[in-house]
Order: sequence, then C-alpha cells, then structure tokens
Amino acid sequence: MSTVEDYFVPWIKGIPMYISPHIELAWRNPSLARMMSNENPNQPSEKVLETINKYAKVANRYMDQGLILRSKIAEINGLPGPENVLLGNGSSEVYDMVFRSFIAPGDEVIQQTPCFGIYKLRCNVLGGKLVSTKMVYKDKQILFDPDAIINAITPKTKIIVVAHPNNPTGNFMDEKDIIRIAEQGRPLVIDEAYIEFAGLQRSMVKLVKDFKNVIITRTLSKAYALAGLRFGYALGDRDVIMQIAGTLIPWNVSTIAMWAALTAFEDTETLRKNVEFNNNEIKFYEESLADIPGLTVFHSYGNYLLLDGTDTGKPGKDMIKYAEQHGVILRGQENLYGRNGWWRVTIGTHKENEKLVRLTHEFYAQK
Ligand SMILES: Cc1ncc(COP(=O)(O)O)c(C=O)c1O
Repeated sequence: MSTVEDYFVPWIKGIPMYISPHIELAWRNPSLARMMSNENPNQPSEKVLETINKYAKVANRYMDQGLILRSKIAEINGLPGPENVLLGNGSSEVYDMVFRSFIAPGDEVIQQTPCFGIYKLRCNVLGGKLVSTKMVYKDKQILFDPDAIINAITPKTKIIVVAHPNNPTGNFMDEKDIIRIAEQGRPLVIDEAYIEFAGLQRSMVKLVKDFKNVIITRTLSKAYALAGLRFGYALGDRDVIMQIAGTLIPWNVSTIAMWAALTAFEDTETLRKNVEFNNNEIKFYEESLADIPGLTVFHSYGNYLLLDGTDTGKPGKDMIKYAEQHGVILRGQENLYGRNGWWRVTIGTHKENEKLVRLTHEFYAQK
C-alpha cells in the first residue's frame, strides 16, 4: 500500500523548512549584535509606529486591495497606476508569486552567483531547474558576466534574475548589459531590495515602459527598516502584473503592514536619514579598514559589505568565529574563486560598527 509520502509531488520531497540559524541565534541571544541578515539597525519611525497602533485596532477586519497604497507606489516610481503594482508579504513572497507564474517542473531559472538564496528556494519548490552562472573575479573586483547569462539561455529558460545591486557583492550591473539581457525577451526579474541606498535614480523601473518582460521587485525590509513587518512589492507592465496577481493568496498582506507601508513611503525624511546613516557607515568601514594589508573591502551600494581576507592567510570562517566570540554575528560566504577569506557584515549601529572595526583590526593583527 502506498504511504502518504508517495503522494507528495516529487520535487518537494526532502526540501527542508527554511530556517536561518543566524537569526535563530540572534533571537535566543539578544545581546549579540545582529550584523548578519542585512536588517536595518534603526527602529521604525514614530509615524510608522503610530500607524501600526492605529490599524491594530481594526485587526478584526479584512483589508481592501490596497488601491491607495498601490497608487502611491506607482506615483513614486513614475508608473501609470495601481495595476502596475503587486503587493507581497515581503519580497520573498513576491518571488514566490512571480516564479509560480512562469515556472513549471523542468523549466529553467538563470541566476548569477554569488547571490541571494530566495531564487533557488522558490525555483526548487516548483520543480524548476536552477542554472547558476558565475560572476567574474578580476583585479580584486567581482563583476557581472552578462554574456554568461545570455549564453545560458535555452528554450526552457523562463526566468532570469539579476539583483541590482547584488547581495553579497554590493555592485550594480551596467544598464546597457541589463538592456541586452532584457532584449532576449525572457521574463527578467530585477531584484532592487537595496535600491534606496543608492537612490531611485539608479532603478531599472524605467525599462518597464519598453520591456513588458521586465519585472522589478522591492522591499521595505532594508532602507525602510521594516523587515519584521513583511512588506514587498513588484512593479511592471500592467498586463503582466495583473496576470501575476492571479496567483495572490487572498489577503496576503496584513492591514497593519499595508497602512504602515503607506506611512513609510510618505515619511521621506526617515528614509533620507536611514540612507544617509547607512552610506556614512559604509564609508566609515571603507576608511577604517583600508590599512589592513591583504584585506579587500568590496565597495557596496547596499547595507552590507563583502570582505576577502584570503591574502592575509586567514580564512573568513575564523574571522566569523572571532566576531561571534566577541558578541557579533556575521555572515559567511562559501569558498569562491579558490579563495577562502570571505565574510560579510551588515551595517549595524555606529557603536556596533566601531566595535567590528576594532575586532577586525585585532583579528588580522594576530599571528
Ligand atoms: C537581494 C535580496 N532580495 C530580497 C530579499 C528579501 O527581502 P524580504 O524581506 O522582502 O523578503 C533580501 C533579503 O536579504 C535580499 O538580500
């Protein structure tokens, strides 16, 4: 007789629940500095907190489809209206909807590594095939390789994802290269989770007018400092967005998150401050770590920095261990380009950043 396991669709068999050990560790030990998940160290603004309280009082009610909020998002991004905007419970859920809209078992998703893990996760649960092309390591830089992406396209390619800027490398793909990829006609999803740190003028949303196949994803988890609230969105051509919206789980974004998001978009002063703080801290790291021989700091347009200490002779995992022993959680990076010195730090409070700069100097000075 068959067992219940036999009835699972084969492609989800053995996929474990997503758990981030770093985040688990951080919640268990609140005294540790959370410099590992690209959260914003600043709390939500008073205005956002007021809105959260206000709408908590009507939490007994279902929400509407968010027309006011979607119109505001469209306006900020120079798009015609709410039908160009899809709301999600974080951009991770937006990825789920976008992938479910294009990927059937056996279809291919192209990503360029190193990159964020959500593309792989959403591809796997649909039985898709992940095709990873590699960024190129050259002259102490990690560069996008648009030709590798274009050469990887097959008849089964249904999605290409490019993060703009990329996590963990922190850099942008050139606009002309993005356009070349868009011209291939495949659904091109551009992950702009961190775009606000560089400014919306760097956004590729302008491509939506000419390329119906371009979809932009965004989140309030980073510059807007609302990771735990869960709010993300997609921008695109009206017909495309409305078709993807067919996959929406009804009432996926809570009333509280929707109205808090509207307040966050209107509260441009808090966004400006968050961005200014972040970019000053990035500079602080770059200046403070420049004198460590053999340590490369990759310039970042996000709220994190990738570092490579391979040329110091010390593995990245030892730095991560050292930081953790001193109360800071960092993030590792698998060996890349035959080098093992990698680690990533998320911008913390200024005090936390000062501490990490000190720890970094101490660690690399040890014999
Ligand atoms: C490139 C990138 N995209 C998307 C996300 C997911 O963000 P969200 O909290 O909106 O699901 C992250 C989170 O770290 C990220 O680094």
